[in-house]
Amino acid sequence: MISKKQLQLAFCSGILMIIASCKTASVTAQTTNVTVTTEEQIYRPNFHFTPKKGWMNDPNGLFYLNGTYHLFFQHTPFQSIPDFSKMHWGHAISKDLIKWEELTPAIAYDEKGAIFSGSAVVDKDNTSGFGDGTNVPVVAIFTYHNMQKEKAGEIDAQSQAIAYSLDNGKTWTKYSNNPVLKNPGIKDFRDPKVFWDAKREQWVMGLAAQDRQHFYASKNLKDWVFLSEFGKDVGGHGGVWECPDLFPIKIEGTEEEKWVLIVNINPGGPNGGSAAQYFVGDFDGKNFKMDALFTQQLQKEKVAWLDLGRDNYASVSFDNVPDNKRVIIGWMSNWDYASQVPTNQWRGTTTIARELKLIKNEDHYSLVSEPVHQLENYTSKSVKEKGITANEKVTLAENNEIDLTKAVVELSLKDLELATYTFALSNKEGELLTFGINNAEHYLFIDRSKSGKNNFSDKFYQPLTKAILDKKQKEAVFKIILDKTSLEIFFNNGEKVMTDIFFNSSPFTRLDLLSEGKINVQNLEINQININ
Ligand code: FRU
Repeated sequence: MISKKQLQLAFCSGILMIIASCKTASVTAQTTNVTVTTEEQIYRPNFHFTPKKGWMNDPNGLFYLNGTYHLFFQHTPFQSIPDFSKMHWGHAISKDLIKWEELTPAIAYDEKGAIFSGSAVVDKDNTSGFGDGTNVPVVAIFTYHNMQKEKAGEIDAQSQAIAYSLDNGKTWTKYSNNPVLKNPGIKDFRDPKVFWDAKREQWVMGLAAQDRQHFYASKNLKDWVFLSEFGKDVGGHGGVWECPDLFPIKIEGTEEEKWVLIVNINPGGPNGGSAAQYFVGDFDGKNFKMDALFTQQLQKEKVAWLDLGRDNYASVSFDNVPDNKRVIIGWMSNWDYASQVPTNQWRGTTTIARELKLIKNEDHYSLVSEPVHQLENYTSKSVKEKGITANEKVTLAENNEIDLTKAVVELSLKDLELATYTFALSNKEGELLTFGINNAEHYLFIDRSKSGKNNFSDKFYQPLTKAILDKKQKEAVFKIILDKTSLEIFFNNGEKVMTDIFFNSSPFTRLDLLSEGKINVQNLEINQININ
């Protein structure tokens, strides 16, 4: 912990840290000794997973076994723009969901097609018969995407297939009778997410079929029967549904179990392009039905979004996580511009792993997400402060105290006025990334329009990413994760989440908080993250 003086919270001095008459609320450019030149230095995240080389999109086949988390991902290892005829499952492992080690790609495309998104399950009872009596089989369920068929205009280019591993996910063998689920005549028919439905003793597969959700069941992961369809006339339909995920979850603080269905959608997100929506309901082994309260909620809100930023897509959860925790990871990009972002060696990164909780208030369900607690184990340095007040502007951090290219900022604001509270990250180039809360019109926002490179795609440049709040706030709690080129905001303990990426040309070295209202920071904590 460092002293108030070292923290240099403002250019106006005073023991009470009250800033009464600072002249301007604008942000001045900073000087720094850091010289960064390569894209590795400036853009490669410090603690979010990125492949060393090549393209990555969706996380796939997430599971935990024997102390290790496995992350597979859509990957073309040989080039950093996607080749949809040659998609692999890349592979990385971690002991704690934060520090990842990349392994060689796990499943490669073949003559039946590219390996599109899917899931993996730990088949503890060897229902598949793939087990050898010694090792627990892990079974991956993925979509074959046949490019020749697609090019020939055939409707059945996508089918579902399986592969298994008998060495804890290291090496994989494709099943000889693939596909296990043929295409029934639906063009977009993909992204199987499988789970063990213990009550009915069956495997259930959720699948995206155009802009609907289909469910199938199986006893052995090889023979599948159709169960039901969900999704007509509910939720967002501005694009095709992709990467679904159905799972049971207890309502926080109760023993009551509900089922949550996450459905990613592209385009049609709240701020354009790709995003993830969710539904709350019940699953009886055949049908998913929305909960009555959630149905009412959707009449008002139309769509419930998991993350209201531009850059969290294809979020799905891990199988077999200890203590029944529900942990998700997303791809931190957007199909609107993903293949044009200005990195060349690699393209694509994951979000921080997040734990989900289902909260029920009187008239509302919220699926809240927060960074997994393991991130805290990597704090190398902290700044803590209480009771900071100011009128127009307060400097929360500068690089001589904390490295803002790898930091978690936690801050609670109280006595909010009907004003805008803007966090501003700035660098020596005068680039600015701003975000915060407009409490007069009640929304959260991110503005990356002046944050650096943004002309690589028309769709990347847009003035404001917005998340509407249902009312004015008296207090606001922010947890903000910064990792070179990404911003993840967890507002009010994950009640609203926003994730955006940006491409500044030198590191942001200063974080200010500005407002035309009175600033009253109850608690400030900045933790620097070091995973090396
Ligand atoms: C989602 C998605 C999936 C598909 C994969 C292809 O981002 O389009 O539907 O399986 O990416 O890479």
